[in-house]
Amino acid sequence: MLTIENVTKSFGGLSAVCGVSLQLGKTPITGLVGPNGSGKTTLFHMITGFYSVDKGRVFLEDREITNLKPHLISRMGLLRTFQHTRVLPFLSTLENLIAAAPLQRGESLVQLFLRPGAVRKDERKNAQKAREVLDTIKLQPLAGELAGRLSYGQQRLLELGRILMADPRVIMLDEPTAGINPSLVRDLVRVIRGLTGVGIQVFLIEHNMPLVMELCDRVLVMDAGGLIFEGSPHEAVKDKAVIEAYLGKARDASKS
Ligand SMILES: Nc1ncnc2c1ncn2[C@@H]1O[C@H](COP(=O)(O)OP(=O)(O)OP(=O)(O)O)[C@@H](O)[C@H]1O
Ligand SMILES: [Mg+2]
Repeated sequence: MLTIENVTKSFGGLSAVCGVSLQLGKTPITGLVGPNGSGKTTLFHMITGFYSVDKGRVFLEDREITNLKPHLISRMGLLRTFQHTRVLPFLSTLENLIAAAPLQRGESLVQLFLRPGAVRKDERKNAQKAREVLDTIKLQPLAGELAGRLSYGQQRLLELGRILMADPRVIMLDEPTAGINPSLVRDLVRVIRGLTGVGIQVFLIEHNMPLVMELCDRVLVMDAGGLIFEGSPHEAVKDKAVIEAYLGKARDASKS
């Protein structure tokens, strides 16, 4: 589904991602792990068009998406969340979902005047879809609550809901469980598993190794901008290069 060939990104003299190639294939849930600063988020930004790619190519199925604008990539079915949550705090939970529906005809004045019936039909469809998504992310009791008043973990679930409004084929989640309480982590795990059941492929960055072992079918490990391991999560935690990458960071941290 998603294929990356030899992708590279530098910031000034710093090589953040260096010649990374990978394929998600048909794996339902792929995890991306690695020490802080190893280039995980930069890789996600490049795949989804938020950072330009210096060198290399990105494909979604057989279509090249290298350096396309983010909204074009999301329209093709590749959606992502961010390391820092982005919801609209002054809209309700339900309104946040409705506002995330792609290509709303009601936003075009011309359409509104010429085809009011079509606009109303779209709105009904989006509201119905938002209710379904609300059900998926298990936030029905909070439908009318302002998003800014939800807990951090609930906002992360809502953020996931917002990308589900676009009927994604592949979703990329940057540290979806960071900073959320254990019971919401369980909810999130159930939601993510459920998504694979309806054919949505998941690619996620995650620091919590026990969770990666529980959730991911396959894991990729980055260190210093390069990919150092691909395989099962159980092999990853026994791999010498992976252990060394994490221990090296721990040693550096204890020295400074
Ligand atoms: N916009 C930018 N400008 C300059 N340097 C950047 C930029 N974005 C990332 N970097 C650098 O690129 C390297 C990789 O950063 P990145 O955020 O991709 O790491 P990460 O693996 O996601 O880390 P973490 O686990 O802490 O989120 C770091 O050294 C970071 O400082
Ligand atoms: Mg990151």
